[in-house]
Amino acid sequence: MAEGPPRPIRTFGRVTARPIKPRQAALMTSLLPSLVTPPGPFDPLALAPGAGEVWLEIGFGGGEHLAAQAARRSDVLILGAEPFLNGVASALRHIQDLGVGNVRLHAGDARALMGALPASCLDRLFVLFPDPWPKRRHAKRRLVQTEFIQDAARVLKSGARLRFVTDWADYADWTLARFLGSPAFAWTARAADDWRRAPADHVPTRYEQKRLGDCAPVWLEFERL
Ligand SMILES: C[S@@+](CC[C@H](N)C(=O)[O-])C[C@H]1O[C@@H](n2cnc3c(N)ncnc32)[C@H](O)[C@@H]1O
Repeated sequence: MAEGPPRPIRTFGRVTARPIKPRQAALMTSLLPSLVTPPGPFDPLALAPGAGEVWLEIGFGGGEHLAAQAARRSDVLILGAEPFLNGVASALRHIQDLGVGNVRLHAGDARALMGALPASCLDRLFVLFPDPWPKRRHAKRRLVQTEFIQDAARVLKSGARLRFVTDWADYADWTLARFLGSPAFAWTARAADDWRRAPADHVPTRYEQKRLGDCAPVWLEFERL
């Protein structure tokens, strides 16, 4: 039997946990189909011709950040990728509650979604509290790898911003080292508060509020050169 390309190492844990609540389950049938990204390669601006910018949030968890940003910025199309189905269902609830239509969702691996996007199409990319995989032997499961940085460089426009935040010190060091090693990105911090304090436009996430990490959140903002 012919072998396909190797599957990327899985960066996420469970794709379902507890049963999805009835209202959210209904939204998976009634609302999600109108919001899913197309199956093959696509131009995001073709989905929202009036949008001034396109942003992507990777691993949106419960979707509170994604929906709130979409409500704040109706001029932006926000793409979101999340393989955890309870998270997708929760995001649909926030999207409906806030009445936002400028979002498109991929209920799966963000790396597949990024592969379907044209080069230089994104203005912002968010990676907020990614799975930390703190054990050394699991570090290969972290989202931020050299290949991920190359993929991000391809889809981001020159001058676009990538926001990464973690409350695990080793993951912050790991990410900073890898981005500093990439000629495609520059770290924008000028003073310690730039990485110590949440940016003014941040919307707190559910994972962030659990404070499960081993340090205060470290905010890293990179510019695509
Ligand atoms: C620790 S949670 C944080 C969720 C959310 N950002 C928050 O702050 O509440 C990390 C999330 O990233 C998702 N994730 C992990 N790998 C992913 C990938 N390759 N593509 C998209 N999402 C991913 C996981 O399913 C999980 O929901």
